[in-house]
Amino acid sequence: MTIHPHEENGTSPMASVTSLSDSVQQQLASALSATLPEAAGADPLLRRSDRADYQANGILALAKKAKANPRELATQVVSQVATGAVIQDIEVSGPGFLNITVSDGAITENLAARYADETGRLGVPFAAHPGTTVIDYAQPNVAKEMHVGHLRSAVIGDSVVQLLEFTGETVVRRHHIGDWGTQFGMLIQYLDEHPHELDHKTSAEDTAASGEEAMSNLDRLYKTARKLFDSDEEFKTRARRRVVDLQAGDPHTLAVWQKFVDESKIYFFSVFEKLDMEVRDPDIVGESGYNDMLAETCRLLEESGVAVRSEGALCVFFDDVKGPEGNPVPLIVQKSDGGYGYAATDLSAIRDRVFNLKASTLLYVVDARQALHFRMVFETARRAGWLNDGVTAVQLAFGTVLGKDGKPFKTRAGETVKLQDLLDEAVDRATAVVRDKAEKVGLSEQEIEENGRYVGIGAVKYADLSTSAVRDYKFDLDQMVSLNGDTSVYLQYAYARIQSILRKAGEARPAAHPELALAPAERALGLHLDQFAETVLEVAASYEPHKLAAYLYQLASHLTTFYDQCPVLKAESPAQIENRLFLVDLTARTLHRGMSLLGIRTPDKL
Ligand code: ARG
Repeated sequence: MTIHPHEENGTSPMASVTSLSDSVQQQLASALSATLPEAAGADPLLRRSDRADYQANGILALAKKAKANPRELATQVVSQVATGAVIQDIEVSGPGFLNITVSDGAITENLAARYADETGRLGVPFAAHPGTTVIDYAQPNVAKEMHVGHLRSAVIGDSVVQLLEFTGETVVRRHHIGDWGTQFGMLIQYLDEHPHELDHKTSAEDTAASGEEAMSNLDRLYKTARKLFDSDEEFKTRARRRVVDLQAGDPHTLAVWQKFVDESKIYFFSVFEKLDMEVRDPDIVGESGYNDMLAETCRLLEESGVAVRSEGALCVFFDDVKGPEGNPVPLIVQKSDGGYGYAATDLSAIRDRVFNLKASTLLYVVDARQALHFRMVFETARRAGWLNDGVTAVQLAFGTVLGKDGKPFKTRAGETVKLQDLLDEAVDRATAVVRDKAEKVGLSEQEIEENGRYVGIGAVKYADLSTSAVRDYKFDLDQMVSLNGDTSVYLQYAYARIQSILRKAGEARPAAHPELALAPAERALGLHLDQFAETVLEVAASYEPHKLAAYLYQLASHLTTFYDQCPVLKAESPAQIENRLFLVDLTARTLHRGMSLLGIRTPDKL
């Protein structure tokens, strides 16, 4: 349970608040080293527990190492701990565990310090050693419809970006879109011969509609071009010549290609906007962006002997990558016809990110099916010395999106489901849910629509983020917008309910009252709130947003129990009313912050 406070003397104000569990941990650690000097610096392994507030399990292993009796050692440690303001009670249990209870006043005081944090960080410290992370996520392909796989990369990546930036990391976003390769020869040649096929009205106010129009135009174009390509030999030859022109940088060919990219971007931006996600144009550096580096990358690999020529192709071999017959399967950096592929691009991107962008971490939010590709690419870069101890590369691999039937997500006709349709449907369903309660809550038509978007998009994001990324998950809209269970709507309602109580109370910043005794449900809620900082830092360091989702769901569950057992506005005394208002307000702020780190909005009225 250790949080490292920000060590730098940067511009950021010191916002960190030592959590209660940390101060208990520190007290135990010093008691431990006073009892057993060789245990100095050892972790007492403090955990939240059902029996007391915390349990420390670290003594057992330390006693074993020191050849001491664990119960005796535990008893000695206990005698070194000063009970009082923070630790109210500490006792030995079982073979040598410590059960620790903290005082009500310490809980409230600690939460009050988080609440008082003017920076809005709720006392969350910055990471101890922030660096520069280049994150590769939300990378759809030009002239192709986006599908649910692209959704996962975008949603997970966006949350990781929020988390990292919150901990003080410098984050460079890279949307490595598929905008290069042989199929563009066919498309360019076709568009060049039919220049008016992409003309359509783009209205600045209605980007969503123009995005869909752009994609349906591209889709139509792709299909017609493909037909011609398959039936007309002469067109085929012209198309092939076009690929060569493109890679050679022929200005006219490039101009037509640019048109494709621009059209596709209109579409991408409309989807990202629907997803309530910020994607900036300069951060879109597609495969084409590394074209100028490809030859050099190959030269460096060949000269250093990392890559070798094999049947004309430039290859990198690995002892542990073999085909079904035990034949080696190399990473092909350059094909025998001289063409460069996906791997050459990724290797060049590594050079750019390490040497130009000065990354200390390279993150790739990409489908688990590309795991072998990245393993080979990273290993190649390591052999070339581009990746070393100072730079780590990680693929944050995610699983497949499945339909309700547990099979890869398809329409009834077996086609890939369009992302746009899916998001629209989520929003429609959510809007119906919101509308149901709208009158009671007093929502205007405009608010119903806005909340419908926040709830629908939130539901889709949360479903994705609440399971571990590597696992496949079922896309089930009914479940996603359900008001009960582990859904974003449940969390959004928890937040809105608090806002409604706070509005009724009309108190801007209720004060904490550490002198008051706490009910069991208040203690449970408070001790969970105390874990927020630690959870955020852990989740950011391990790139596991699902653990933040789990934390927030538990927070909302503690809140539900609290409501059942503790009246807020009808509490026993004015001081208790105020203390409970403070507690729910801090809960709301924590929910809000946590949800925003997942990329999900929390409307005030729902
Ligand atoms: N465009 C690729 C796809 O749709 C994902 C790109 C992943 N990033 C990378 N650097 N290779 O599958």
